Amino acid sequence: MSGATPADPSRYQQAGRSTGDEVSYRAAMESYFDRAGGSNVEKLENFAKFASRQTLARHLCLTEVFKLVLEVQGDVVECGVNWGGGLMAFAQLSAILEPVNLQRRIVGFDTFSGFVKIADEDAKGALFTAERRAGGYQADCLADLQECVTLFDRNRFIGHVQKVVLVPGDAAATIPAYLEANPHTVVSLLHLDFDLYEPTKIAIEQLLPRMPRGAVILFDELNNRTWPGETRAVMDTLGLTKLRIRRFAFEPHMSYAVLE
Ligand SMILES: C[S@@+](CC[C@H](N)C(=O)[O-])C[C@H]1O[C@@H](n2cnc3c(N)ncnc32)[C@H](O)[C@@H]1O
Repeated sequence: MSGATPADPSRYQQAGRSTGDEVSYRAAMESYFDRAGGSNVEKLENFAKFASRQTLARHLCLTEVFKLVLEVQGDVVECGVNWGGGLMAFAQLSAILEPVNLQRRIVGFDTFSGFVKIADEDAKGALFTAERRAGGYQADCLADLQECVTLFDRNRFIGHVQKVVLVPGDAAATIPAYLEANPHTVVSLLHLDFDLYEPTKIAIEQLLPRMPRGAVILFDELNNRTWPGETRAVMDTLGLTKLRIRRFAFEPHMSYAVLE
């Protein structure tokens, strides 16, 4: 995704369609959520009152893509976890739709301290964003996510078998190290959401050999004027012309390719 959360005002600004209403929507929702009736858990049970149209659309995409790999062997790997909404969406979908698939792990790579460095491929010709810097999109939430996963495990079948794996650190080092430590790894779904050229290129180079036919690559920043690095990384590895890249009519950012 192009922002820390789908309601992040920079998301609208990046798309070049910022309006005062769109930017103030986030602040108004923050205030409404605080004032609305019900406990926090009751609010979550009524999440459609609060989640933005963009957030719900994004989750519909994640659901549709996850369904494509239900019968494909392998883990889900999310490259770029940020606050964890996407990673936990995949975890919940696995717990709901395939509760006995104790093999499938949902593996998330993130520094949890934001971007490491920006390459020329990320900056040249790109639209301005204040997040394009070392430390951009920092989400210091590893401990919070670990607690989230513990709660998640309490409320699913076979909860004693690990489902979510959080891998903190620079993906340039952690992806090769993870594969070294987990040589059995097969990947059914690769979500590329680092936003940047170098970690995306490394993720593709390291993980593509682990992906069987029928596996899916989910892209967040292809053809994105703010984050050209993802397109460049795909061109320099997979090759755009070799992929049948599909998108969703109802969501502007996500696209995907089924490996053929
Ligand atoms: C747009 S956010 C990911 C959003 C998330 N997938 C979601 O659905 O909410 C991009 C994330 O990539 C991470 N990231 C970028 N470069 C990285 C690298 N070299 N190693 C690890 N994480 C990195 C950042 O820390 C940031 O949290």
